[in-house]
Amino acid sequence: MKDHLVIFDTTLRDGEQSPGASMTKEEKLRVARQLERMKVDVIEAGFAAASPGDFDAIKLIAETIKDSTICSLARANENDIRRAGEAIRPAARGRIHTFIATSPIHMEKKLRMTPDQVVAAAVQAVHWAREYTDDVEFSAEDAVRSDVDFLCRVFEAVIKAGAKTINVPDTVGYSVPSVWGDLMRTLIARVPGADQVVWSTHCHNDLGMAVANSLSAVLAGARQVECTINGLGERAGNASLEEVVMAVRTRSDLFPVQTRIDATQIVPASKLVSQITGYAVQPNKAVVGANAFAHESGIHQDGVLKHRETYEIMRAEDVGWAQNKLVLGKHSGRNAFKSRLAELGIVLDSEEALNATFARFKDLADKKHEIFDEDLQALVSDEAITPEGEHYKLVYSRVCSETGETPTADVTLTVGGAEKKASASGGGPVDATFKAIESIAASGAELLLYSVNAITTGTDAQGEVTVRLSKAGRIVNGNGADTDIVIASAKSYLNALNKLHSSLEKLNPQGDV
Ligand code: KIV
Ligand code: ZN
Repeated sequence: MKDHLVIFDTTLRDGEQSPGASMTKEEKLRVARQLERMKVDVIEAGFAAASPGDFDAIKLIAETIKDSTICSLARANENDIRRAGEAIRPAARGRIHTFIATSPIHMEKKLRMTPDQVVAAAVQAVHWAREYTDDVEFSAEDAVRSDVDFLCRVFEAVIKAGAKTINVPDTVGYSVPSVWGDLMRTLIARVPGADQVVWSTHCHNDLGMAVANSLSAVLAGARQVECTINGLGERAGNASLEEVVMAVRTRSDLFPVQTRIDATQIVPASKLVSQITGYAVQPNKAVVGANAFAHESGIHQDGVLKHRETYEIMRAEDVGWAQNKLVLGKHSGRNAFKSRLAELGIVLDSEEALNATFARFKDLADKKHEIFDEDLQALVSDEAITPEGEHYKLVYSRVCSETGETPTADVTLTVGGAEKKASASGGGPVDATFKAIESIAASGAELLLYSVNAITTGTDAQGEVTVRLSKAGRIVNGNGADTDIVIASAKSYLNALNKLHSSLEKLNPQGDV
């Protein structure tokens, strides 16, 4: 009988700390629904004290999700913990994850606290958290650079105070598998009460070893892994959920654990997170990259055709590839459309939203014969505008591009309801369109990223465009999809401008708290 490995997903918290990856409340709920469908044990839905938007998103997720534990992060202070406690209150199962740094550099330079003060703050934090829930997790931030004796002292104290999960983070992605496994083994052997708690690992990927370090910790006794979809996260990211889950499953001969993850939901989750955050998945990324199951060389193709396992250690369909079956076409009715959205876990919050999305689906079905699940996700993303509505809206766009001539664009927008027109020329049709939009909006924002991906295959596929804009320290991602990539680009640029315009959009997910 194998032990259960708790999968703790922090895409909505640590993942959201990637520059520009901040998500609206509705987007977070869509991701949370997908994580629940995938049977993630714990969803870290955010950091309640970071902003009112984070608080509301955690509360909404706690009200909606029933099959996963909903967790909020909180620093070891009373305000953070009470905000976290209030946010998770509606959850069927709620967890507070409190943390304080334990390394000399963090204690001296950042916290300006003595080790004794840190121990006292950690214990007090766990007591406050226990007022809200029995399910309290404690993390020693920067454990990787902490003194082992001190870590043992802090962990012993918080276990006595009632923490049920002890998380050991490699906050700066500094460790290597053998060292990380040894640390976990030492802590479990030395800390009094170690057998009463779940030991957890949280690894960052600065040296590309987050997954390897996490798996080493599992071999040493950790029974929770903190990870994110596509390895999204602060700096180089976190351990990637799909790699951890599939490693444990594929090498069940090595790992004495099993997860309850429904692996067929992995690729849909990866695509959803990529679409919402604008973080494209590299083609050669393990498990979820477009080429992860593509065999290019003749020798490999020949082998796979003769016997698949010659070159494949996992089956594409087991992780959810080829799930993008043809779902709907231009003759599909509103009910079929609504029920496919429900199967994808997409619930539109009003009849108006459903009608508008259905009308857009019909438009798309006129242009594109076959509509796949990814097309539906993109339609819904397009519909999900900022909470304050669309300040900038595309009414009309026309581009002229011919060999040897400078491309030009004409655009008509509504800005706060008033119609405005502009024309511009540029290096290409997209450049001309952005210049025309900018001549109306005069945002002065800096374009950090422009990327186009085909959502599905075929030349009639929708192009999905991500635009990342930066202005006065705020970074936002805009998304737009259309079978015409210039229109997709215009939508994406306007989506980013709307986010910059929205006062509800956060400056930075964990910033300035
Ligand atoms: O990386 C880290 O140390 C964290 C903690 C808050 C767990 O994200
Ligand atoms: Zn982290």
